[in-house]
Order: sequence, then structure tokens, then C-alpha cells
Amino acid sequence: MRIVSGIQPTGSLHLGNYLGAIRNWVLMQDALGPDGKAWFFIADLHAITIFQDPAELKQSTREIAAALMAAGIDPAKAVLFNQSQVPEHAELAWVLGCTARMGWLNRMTQFKEKSGKDREGASVGLYTYPVLQAADVLLYKATHVPVGDDQKQHLELARDIATKFNSDYGVELFPLPEPTIPPSSPRVRSLRDGAAKMSKSDPSDQSRINLTDSEDEIRNKLKRAKTDPEPLPGEAKGLEGRLEARNLVEIYATLSGESVAAVLERFGGQGFGAFKPALADLVVAHLAPMNQRFRELLAAPDEIDLALARGAERARAVAAETMREVRSAVGFLG
Ligand code: TYM
Repeated sequence: MRIVSGIQPTGSLHLGNYLGAIRNWVLMQDALGPDGKAWFFIADLHAITIFQDPAELKQSTREIAAALMAAGIDPAKAVLFNQSQVPEHAELAWVLGCTARMGWLNRMTQFKEKSGKDREGASVGLYTYPVLQAADVLLYKATHVPVGDDQKQHLELARDIATKFNSDYGVELFPLPEPTIPPSSPRVRSLRDGAAKMSKSDPSDQSRINLTDSEDEIRNKLKRAKTDPEPLPGEAKGLEGRLEARNLVEIYATLSGESVAAVLERFGGQGFGAFKPALADLVVAHLAPMNQRFRELLAAPDEIDLALARGAERARAVAAETMREVRSAVGFLG
């Protein structure tokens, strides 16, 4: 078993990343032990599919590394690195880009969302983004990929690409990676719009809770979070069609480890004036220790860089081996 997953350094880590993915990364890392079974990387190659200011990209990469470590990713247990330090990601992406079909990529909803109305003006990299994502996991022959629900389609594509590659070249080179999306991981929604996911790229910082927000910021953002005027229902089905209310209740349930039903049993009939401060207490209690550790780590950027360089060295050893097999399978000389 080998788990591999990545996160883009295009802003700060937020509650959606944490509840949807990082929390599970830490649990899986701790369950798997230190033998190179858990691999986590910062997807800086993916980040530049949309223009990034170079100085900000460097800083965000360090910040995401510090935030991951603060959340419990331990470079002594897991292999932690940034993708661009392992050139084989890009090399394999080229080969797999020749396996993937245009029709498959045309179905990817993330490209449609991110390119919006300006499809012609989007970068070619944004279009082939899911092929690079497939390369990320196949390079290390991942068996399981812990992601949030929004990445499911990309993982299905990775399986299709692996299947076609193995069959075209008559090899058993790539195992089919299984997306691991625990049922207790909600798709966390924007605090301003229950129809949109909480996202690093949302221009409004009020839409998300960053792992680096202060207690006051967290309380204020939750206080101002969009809701409706009705009190909370006593049962889960009363949340139907109430996207914002459901989002807040799901965040509460995930953090407290309770079911939505149990939370509603307690808060049913109460208004958001009572529920939001209780939720804020819970969020603050979870994030405050991480926040503290994040700041300590960020004060020593050289150590972060060193941890990433060491992780990249371990990653390159495995990546080079897979590429030898790929080159031989494809028929490249040398
Ligand atoms: P990214 O950087 O958008 O998000 C990192 C992880 O956080 C999860 N996530 C969420 N989960 C629940 N609710 C949300 N609002 C929410 N927002 C983000 C994502 O599902 C993800 O697991 N393309 C990937 C990065 C990537 C990758 C990979 C992932 C590159 N290569 C290979 C897995 C395997 C991305 O942009 O994630």
C-alpha cells in the first residue's frame, strides 16, 4: 500500500483542505508508519497553470509546507516535497498526455469551472492539468489517493489513463489508484455562498477560514457567514435546500466527531445566534494549536527548505525507477 496526494500552493490552507483531505492524510500517515508508504507533495507545477507571482509562489510553497507540518504531517514519517524538485512528474505527464484522449479531458468539470467563459484564453497547462495529476500518482505507483470529493473526477481519469497505458503497451506497470474519500469528509462550502466550495482561489477572504486565521478573524467570519432566517431543524432532512445551514452543521459535526443528526438533536430549534458562537468555539479549539506551530515553523524557512529538499531526494529515487520502466515499455532508446 502506498498513498500519494498533493495540494496546490496557491494561497493558504483552509478548513476545506483540512477537513476534506489533510486530516485524513495525517491519520493515514500515522497508521502506515515511517517506511515510505505515505507521500505528500506541494503541487507547484499545477499552481502555474494560472499565472503566479514568482516571489509569492516561493512564499506560498513554504507556507503550505509549514501548514502541513503544523497539521501533523511529519517529514520523518511521510515523504514530503514540492513537485517541481522531481522533474519526472513533468516527464511522465508528457508520456501520459499521449495516452489520454481529448474526449476524456473535454469532460473535466474543473477545467470548465476554472476557464469560465474565457476558454480560448486559458493556458494549455490548465487543460492538461489532470494528466499531470495522473502522472503525480502513477509515478509512485500509488494504490490509494486521499482527496476531497472535488478531486474524484481527476482520479477516475488517472485510472483510465493507467488502464489504457498498461493495455496499449502490454504491461502491468501501473496499479489502479483508488481515491480514498472518507464518508466523514464533507465538501466544505464557501461561507458566502453554499453552492460554491470553500476555495483558496475565491477572491473573498470572508468565504473561507484559513488555518492561519487568528481567533478574532475566525469568530468574525463565522458571525458574518451567510445563513437563512429559520432556526436549525431537529432532523437532517430539514437541511434540504438550506445549503449554508447544512454547511455549518456539517463542519460542526466533522470537527466534533458527531453525526449531523446528533448535532441537530442538540441545536434543533435554536437560531444561528446561538449556533454560530458554539461552532466558532469548536473551530478555534481545533485550529489554535496548529496556528501556533505554523508560526514557529515559518520563523525558520531554511529548515522548511531543507525538509522539502530531503523529501524530494527520496521521491526522485522512486520516480527515476518508474521512468526507467516507462521508457523501456514505450520503446525509447537509452
Ligand atoms: P487543492 O489544492 O485544491 O486541494 C487540496 C485537497 O483539499 C481538498 N479540498 C476540499 N475538500 C473539501 N472541501 C473543500 N472545500 C475542499 N477544497 C479542497 C481537495 O479535494 C484536495 O484533496 N488538483 C489537486 C492537487 C493535486 C493532487 C494531485 C491531488 C495535484 N496532483 C495528485 C491528489 C493527487 C488540487 O488542486 O487540490
